[in-house]
Amino acid sequence: MRPLIILSSYHHKNTEKIANVIAKVIDTQVNTPEDVVPEEILEYDLIGFGSGIYDGKNHSNLLELAERLPAADGRKTVIFSTVGAVMIER
Ligand SMILES: Cc1cc2nc3c(=O)[nH]c(=O)nc-3n(C[C@H](O)[C@H](O)[C@H](O)COP(=O)(O)O)c2cc1C
Repeated sequence: MRPLIILSSYHHKNTEKIANVIAKVIDTQVNTPEDVVPEEILEYDLIGFGSGIYDGKNHSNLLELAERLPAADGRKTVIFSTVGAVMIER
């Protein structure tokens, strides 16, 4: 399997910490959206998108890259995020 991790993490680098652990486990590099050539996404079969949540959305750089990606049927994808919201269980 050839994995690709694409990360936007700037506030406290919280999501970067998660991405670095994932990258170590699956033995790959962490890339920024600026590193990615959209057509080259077809060379990967597992693609992970990670960012913090800012005003209810993933980072705009990640969303803008996603808009430019070609259709890549059959690939597995995962989205991971960190947030500041406190989750209260009742
Ligand atoms: C401008 C801004 C907007 C944010 N908006 C939200 C939000 O809507 N919901 C939330 O739960 N956390 C929000 N947060 C908190 C971040 O999602 C949280 O700190 C996250 O871990 C940041 O990821 P990063 O350190 O990888 O950039 C916001 C943080 C910033 C700086």
